[in-house]
Amino acid sequence: MFEADHIPSEKPLFNVRLCTNKRFNKDELPSCAGRGSKELAHKIEQILLDQSIPAKLIRSPCMNNCRIGPNLKIQRGDLFNEVTEDRLDEIIEAIKAEVTRRKA
Ligand code: FES
Repeated sequence: MFEADHIPSEKPLFNVRLCTNKRFNKDELPSCAGRGSKELAHKIEQILLDQSIPAKLIRSPCMNNCRIGPNLKIQRGDLFNEVTEDRLDEIIEAIKAEVTRRKA
């Protein structure tokens, strides 16, 4: 649900999937949510809304790259592994580049 001052200005052109899977079992694999992807999802979503970037963030299930997560995939675009808050500028720029490419 969007707040009134955060209604997207355009229909999303594509999705950006960020794994937010969390493991509760005791296997050896880490999970993206265990490495902070839920907080990253909120931050990315907020940036998309604040900057009126026409892309939709999807909180996805496991993408089968758990050891190098959190993992983020721009639909038909770049794949990012080991996503941290320090890489958000790089990721947002890649999303903007994909918007530009699709509008061309
Ligand atoms: S838990 Fe994120 S890729 Fe597996």
